[in-house]
Amino acid sequence: MAKADVGLERMEQLANEVLRDINSYQDKCSWIQIKEHEGDFMDVYTAIKERKSCRNFLPDVIDNEMIDKIIEAGVQAPSPLNIQPWDFIVITNNEVKEKIHAEAQRCKEWAVKASGWKWLETYSIDFLKSTPVIIAVTGDTRKSGVDEFEEGGPLAYQHACAAAIQNMLLVAHALGLGSLWFTLFDKNLIKDLLEIDVNKTPLALICIGKAAKEVPKTARKEIAKKTTYIS
Ligand SMILES: Cc1cc2nc3c(=O)[nH]c(=O)nc-3n(C[C@H](O)[C@H](O)[C@H](O)COP(=O)(O)O)c2cc1C
Repeated sequence: MAKADVGLERMEQLANEVLRDINSYQDKCSWIQIKEHEGDFMDVYTAIKERKSCRNFLPDVIDNEMIDKIIEAGVQAPSPLNIQPWDFIVITNNEVKEKIHAEAQRCKEWAVKASGWKWLETYSIDFLKSTPVIIAVTGDTRKSGVDEFEEGGPLAYQHACAAAIQNMLLVAHALGLGSLWFTLFDKNLIKDLLEIDVNKTPLALICIGKAAKEVPKTARKEIAKKTTYIS
């Protein structure tokens, strides 16, 4: 083999080695990114399957950063015409939590009478006092899209807020927190208590905190009993 050919062959060899290194480095980088991503966020299906309602919270303070992430998940929800009818009130003040508890207790007593449900008497709502954070989700009745003009009044703003709430529960779970979608309250009384704008309705109080004990697993009916196929 001529001298020049040997040089060329060696150069080609070196170039291939460099390419191999680059490829292996790129593989490593994407692997690291995937790992980091996995470290940050649970995949959505796991969060959906694992999330359960928590009614026992530790008093540990929850970082504002986590609360921001939860609200950020809420606002990513779909809404009619992207009108985003939601607002959030983050409550950590113990006096306000006590007042919410007192109001929910009144509402529970009313519900026991109205429904005749005996089991409701034994349902404790003391977690409202111990949950470190309550996020009130309010919906703007004027931001409902076309269904504003339909018979039955505006409803879609509630659907959009429900989507936001579910996103929030899922991200709370992915962050290792327990959560509860709570609605046992008189909307007008909570509206006054939290000084909510006249056009907005409190739709849910989301309790968030570290779970004090394992959250019970609730069962679901088989999808075959809940699904109809039109082919
Ligand atoms: C619209 C709505 C209102 C709810 N209101 C309450 C409530 O006031 N109190 C409560 O303890 N749970 C409430 N829940 C939670 C349900 O009881 C719970 O989601 C259901 O039993 C299924 O259990 P899981 O969340 O553990 O899967 C509510 C859930 C939804 C979607």
